[in-house]
Amino acid sequence: MLTRKHLLAGAAGVLLLAAPVATIADGNDKERSPQGQYRHNLMEVVKYSFLNVMLNLRGEVSAPADQIAGHAEALATAASMAAGAFEKDTRGEDGATDARDAVWENWSDFSARLATFEADTAALAEAAQSGDRAAIAAAFKKVGGSCKSCHDEYRKD
Ligand code: HEC
Repeated sequence: MLTRKHLLAGAAGVLLLAAPVATIADGNDKERSPQGQYRHNLMEVVKYSFLNVMLNLRGEVSAPADQIAGHAEALATAASMAAGAFEKDTRGEDGATDARDAVWENWSDFSARLATFEADTAALAEAAQSGDRAAIAAAFKKVGGSCKSCHDEYRKD
C-alpha cells in the first residue's frame, strides 16, 4: 500500500535529485563537483562526530552516557567509507576541492593512512563502548593525531 510516508519520501527524493549540488552545499560558497562534494560531506561527518566525542569526553555537555559510544561509532563508520569516497581520481575536474593532487599521486601512502585511520577509529569506538575514560582519551588522541598529519600532507589549507 502506498502510504503518505512513501509519497513524502518519494517527493523529497525527486527534489533532492533535481537540486544542483551547489544548493545542497554547506554554505562555504564553494562549488564542487558531485564527487568532490561527496568527499567533503563525508569529511564533515567525520568532523562533527569527532567533535561530539570530544565534548562528551570533556564532560562539557549533558547527554546520556552511551552517546559517546554512538558518536564514536558514527566516526568509525564515516572513516570506513573514506577510502571509497577518495578512490576516484578527480584531478582536472571542474569545481573547488581541498584535496591536493598528492592524494592520487601517492595513492598507496594516502590509502594506507586511511586504513590506519579506519583501524584507529574502530579502536576508539570499541574503547567508547567500554566506558573507560582513560582508554577513550588515549584512543581519541591517537585519532586526532592522524587528522592533522594527513591534512598537513594532503589537504590544501
Ligand atoms: C588520510 C588522510 C586524512 C585523514 C586521516 C583525515 N582527513 Fe580530513 N581531509 C583529508 C583531505 C584530503 C580532505 C580534502 C577533501 C576534499 O576537499 O575533497 C579532508 C577534508 C576534511 C574536512 C572538510 C573541510 C575541508 O577543508 O575540506 C574536514 C572538516 C576534515 N577533513 C576533518 C577531519 C578530521 C576531524 C579528521 C580526524 C578525525 C580527519 N579529517 C582525518 C584527509 C584526511
